[in-house]
Amino acid sequence: MSKVYTIAVLVGSLRKESINRKVALALAELAPANLKLNIVEIGDLPLYNEDIDGGTPPAAYSTFRQQVSSSDAVLFVTPEYNRSVPAPLKNAIDVGSRPYGKSAWSGKPGAIISVSPGAIGGFGANHHLRQSLVFLDVPCMQQPEAYLGGAGSLFDEAGKLSEKTKPFLQAFIDAYGKWVEKQSA
Ligand SMILES: Cc1cc2nc3c(=O)[nH]c(=O)nc-3n(C[C@H](O)[C@H](O)[C@H](O)COP(=O)(O)O)c2cc1C
Repeated sequence: MSKVYTIAVLVGSLRKESINRKVALALAELAPANLKLNIVEIGDLPLYNEDIDGGTPPAAYSTFRQQVSSSDAVLFVTPEYNRSVPAPLKNAIDVGSRPYGKSAWSGKPGAIISVSPGAIGGFGANHHLRQSLVFLDVPCMQQPEAYLGGAGSLFDEAGKLSEKTKPFLQAFIDAYGKWVEKQSA
């Protein structure tokens, strides 16, 4: 049997009814057989502070770092806040990047999908995030780009994904499956 890659999925919104979380869960269902998507929670991470990250770091930092390190790849599903990356997601990125020289992100094949009810689909967040990932040595899938706009109507009352959007998400996650495999060869 061919290898199954474990994917750490980071959702940039902490909201219970988050559209981004719903998209992450939809992607987990649509994922090809070589990917297993697991959402890694970021809501309980204390704001990054070097003073508390000395000798014994907060347990939440250690757990998070371990969850990312032990995954084969990372997938970001995020809204845009004020044309940039939401603070909880940037915080998680910073936590994972330390201690210096031991970044949990290093070399993990990544991909980003930004999701917004707005017209431009979180383009600003998507590209600000790419800036950090360049520095963190996360090779990021370039195509297909994924800026999912008009997302307010993606899911019906029962939480079912719109049939119109399904092929787009399917194409995205299939391409990511191939990308992860290629990067890991
Ligand atoms: C503080 C804040 C800033 C926001 N800034 C933007 C923005 O710059 N661009 C955008 O498209 N939507 C913006 N929004 C709207 C979010 O896209 C919207 O709330 C979205 O549903 C959040 O994703 P979620 O449903 O996964 O929580 C902002 C929302 C908040 C709370």
